[in-house]
Amino acid sequence: MKLFTSVHDVSDINALAAEALQLKQNPFAHQHLGKSKTLGLVFLNPSLRTRMSTQKAALNLGMNVMVLNIDKEGWALELQDGAIMNGGTVEHVREAAAVMGQYVDIIGVRSFPGLKDREEDYSEAIFNKFVQYCGVPVVSLESATRHPLQSLADLVTIQELKKTARPKVVLAWAPHIKALPQAVPNSFAEWMCKADIDFTIAHPAGYELNTDFTDGATITNDLNEALSGADFIYVKNWSAYEPYGKVLPGNEDWMLNNEKLKLSNNAKVMHCLPVRRNLELSDEILDGPNSVVVHEAGNRVWAAQAVLKQMLETL
Ligand code: CP
Repeated sequence: MKLFTSVHDVSDINALAAEALQLKQNPFAHQHLGKSKTLGLVFLNPSLRTRMSTQKAALNLGMNVMVLNIDKEGWALELQDGAIMNGGTVEHVREAAAVMGQYVDIIGVRSFPGLKDREEDYSEAIFNKFVQYCGVPVVSLESATRHPLQSLADLVTIQELKKTARPKVVLAWAPHIKALPQAVPNSFAEWMCKADIDFTIAHPAGYELNTDFTDGATITNDLNEALSGADFIYVKNWSAYEPYGKVLPGNEDWMLNNEKLKLSNNAKVMHCLPVRRNLELSDEILDGPNSVVVHEAGNRVWAAQAVLKQMLETL
């Protein structure tokens, strides 16, 4: 594997999830693969889980790791081609990415969307410039439209915890006060549409996702109907795709609580984190027996390790 930016870069998602679960049983079995190899992690935006789990995964594989918070610690980066750099930016991404590729064997990049210009965000212009100019394999640490390491960890969690061969999984929109990207729900949807599960997306009218990511999903505006018989509920907020990046008024009653959970098949409740308590998810759910959000975050290590292992095998 040379590129991990979406489900489309993976030939067999079930095999990759199974490999992640094997690595969980035996984390240090492949240290020879990463010996004398360096992973560079470049963040244009904040992170807790992605940063630490990917670092941990690389260390388990015997790699060295370099982390650059380029938004805070690097030179002010110019991202536009053809720019006359007579303003605040100091270094063009063309040189910055190419130079980083001289220092590392694999690079991970996090670049969130601006949520102002849908065409620009959905073209993945910034992320793709790193891919184009760095000259080494690239792992997405979350781009404008997708978060594949999160989605793989989510699939691993479902495979690990499911009690039926083909569980019902519901992606349930939740309220928020800020406009959040569609990257996590887009990505979760496209991975779940390829998984052997019964997949439903529930959101209020107006929060339809781009249909490129949802082909094969059942989509409803009725949360209670969606929750009926659910084995896993994946709670997540996202802003509107049209009008792009907007928070629509109302819908506070979409927050999951124990009363709504009773409609499900005693579902496990998932969330990628960070989560705003009692806005997106209630205390009673997060502190209750059905929440698997910390377990899910733990699986980020094994997801990242499976991807890095496959990349190291091709170096
Ligand atoms: N879920 C996730 O990606 O968390 P971070 O933003 O903290 O990395």
